[in-house]
Amino acid sequence: MKIVIAGFGTVGQGFAEVLLKRRELLVDRYGHVPAVVAVIDSRTVVRDRQGLDLSAVLACKKETGCVGTEKYTDPIKVLDSLDYNLLVEVTPTDLKTGGAGLVNITHALESGKDVITVNKGPLALQFSRLIGLAKEHGCKFRFEGSVGGAMPIINLCHENLVGERITSVRGIFNGTCNYILSKMDNGQPFDQALKEAQQMGYAETDPTNDIEGWDTAAKVVILANSVFHRNVTIRDVNITGISTITPDAIALAASHNMVIRLIGEVSDTKLEVSPRLVPRGHPLSIGGTLNVAQIDADFAGPITITGRGAGRIETASAILSDLIAIMNIRDKGEGKHA
Ligand code: HSE
Repeated sequence: MKIVIAGFGTVGQGFAEVLLKRRELLVDRYGHVPAVVAVIDSRTVVRDRQGLDLSAVLACKKETGCVGTEKYTDPIKVLDSLDYNLLVEVTPTDLKTGGAGLVNITHALESGKDVITVNKGPLALQFSRLIGLAKEHGCKFRFEGSVGGAMPIINLCHENLVGERITSVRGIFNGTCNYILSKMDNGQPFDQALKEAQQMGYAETDPTNDIEGWDTAAKVVILANSVFHRNVTIRDVNITGISTITPDAIALAASHNMVIRLIGEVSDTKLEVSPRLVPRGHPLSIGGTLNVAQIDADFAGPITITGRGAGRIETASAILSDLIAIMNIRDKGEGKHA
């Protein structure tokens, strides 16, 4: 298995750290650790056909802000120059155009490469086309970390709940909004809570995407397409964000023993993001940066999951699980999993 990592910000670096920390597990299961043959950041690329020393790449990024000294202008030319099987695409999310992620993922799938991504832009804008490309070219395409970070949801629905008819998924899928709303529960002003969420590294590059509900909408679209097999994009979602929630509204909710939470809901017919009143103590009333989802399934009934919806290592954990799922199929090797 030869991996290229495209994007070496918080999540890309987290994935490198997780790979270093799970060397033994991978050797034990597969007889070897997959080689990362290139890392591409926004300006430079570092490559080694035999596999990079990820500790050195992480150190270089920390010291210089770049992964290497080789500059590039066209990422497609870089990808074409590399011998690899799997692209881990973790460039920043662009919900308007799909950004570099859409270009990279499209090219990798068209070239017959497997792809793991947590980049919401391409999935929220062109899900059906990308799944079609993966099928056409016989590629694995996985994106567990794109919804709920470390909270398992997509693979849980596809794998553990494979025999169920899932009727709806409702949840909190944006840590920034949840942090702001739960701080407002305690009387903190909106702007101060937002600033804190940004300092914690949870907010999107443009936090408007969090506050106006676009980030939650992207996740709802990913669930709609992957779990409910719908064919929708972010433009199909009814979206109301939290920017108009006032301290008075929070206080009124509190006087009825309720909190306000930004809820994303998806079913065969619903596709909605809106602030809703949630009774205190209800599973969807959680505070802080946590994500939570309630899955309704016909045999199993309601299932509630919660976890860290963002973060360096947390999101990398979801990428690792997708990597292992692909290695189970592609790379049985000589380890215990063979
Ligand atoms: N901005 C997102 C959040 C990050 O606050 O949850 C994870 O997608």
